[in-house]
Amino acid sequence: MRVLSGVQPSGLLHIGNYFGATRQHLRLQDEGHTCFYFIANYHALTSLQDKVQMEDACMHVATAYLAMGLDPEKSVFFFQSDVPQVTELCWVLNCVCPVSLMEKATTYKDKVARGLAANMGLLDYPVLQAADIVIYDAECVPVGADQKQHVEMTRDLAGKFNNAYGRDVLAEPEPFIVPEVAVVPGLDGQKMSKSYDNTIEIFATDKQTKKRCAAIVTDSTPLEAPKDPDACNVFALLKLFLEDRPGELDEIAAGYRAGGYGYGQAKGRLAELINERFAEARQRYSEIEKRPDDVRDILREGGRRAREVAEATMQRVREACGISTTY
Ligand code: ADP
Ligand code: TRP
Repeated sequence: MRVLSGVQPSGLLHIGNYFGATRQHLRLQDEGHTCFYFIANYHALTSLQDKVQMEDACMHVATAYLAMGLDPEKSVFFFQSDVPQVTELCWVLNCVCPVSLMEKATTYKDKVARGLAANMGLLDYPVLQAADIVIYDAECVPVGADQKQHVEMTRDLAGKFNNAYGRDVLAEPEPFIVPEVAVVPGLDGQKMSKSYDNTIEIFATDKQTKKRCAAIVTDSTPLEAPKDPDACNVFALLKLFLEDRPGELDEIAAGYRAGGYGYGQAKGRLAELINERFAEARQRYSEIEKRPDDVRDILREGGRRAREVAEATMQRVREACGISTTY
């Protein structure tokens, strides 16, 4: 199966990204699928217009993925901008895309409601994402639930293109979403997101992680009183980290219901679990970080492989549209 996904370099990776997307990316790679994973820097440009922050975030995402287990021997790992055919295809898809379809995108509406400038890039964001997906003939797109509509739009646009040109030039992909981790809550109970400043970062120190966990919003039920685990943000996160230890999760749930088990204790246990889960990756991160040229070499080679596939698709597309190049 051909798998593809992208991650925006728009800040530091957090545990929402991990459970919603990264973990599935690595699992699909290790199951032996043909995986294309890229750093969506052109997408990030729609909301991040600062050279240094962009460069730093790109290196962070690249280093983080390698530290968490992305294997460049198994996956094609690259920068979106190393495949110029993608922005070319975005233009072609723009020409079969109704403006009204883009205006329906909930991500666009949310971003504008949060005060981001409604630039053309932001409106066109899902078309560029569709180009990313169909240019590699991707069949499976592992993403968090917030991206489902974009994958549906991709199917729609591939269909519109094929209808306009009378043949199956572009493949229609399927989203791949793990339902129980579709939306990981942040410190305030809203979706965890860089843009809401409610994240728990993966690559932080043990101490910083403890501090973030302590900041999770809980109600003011006193320590001795019974509590409802299912209404608690800390418990929702504990559930993710204790999926392999259902016995301990049941014990904590029973503690909540019986009373006498405080939120502080739950937060402390969560911090321990996070630090334990990412200890090895954090160690690797600090080693890889010292070799940025090796990281760039990996991305350069990934870009070369990705361009080969993308150019083959673009040749099909140009030919179907009657667009010729003379070079
Ligand atoms: P952010 O919202 O922090 O900017 P991105 O939009 O860069 O995150 O998301 C990268 C990937 O991580 C996407 O596939 C997205 O669906 C997933 N993701 C992000 N936040 C969460 C979350 N809170 N729960 C589940 N998945 C998430
Ligand atoms: N929009 C995705 C996000 O915010 C990132 C992305 C860009 C992507 N292109 C993609 C995801 C193609 C999957 C497939 O997370």
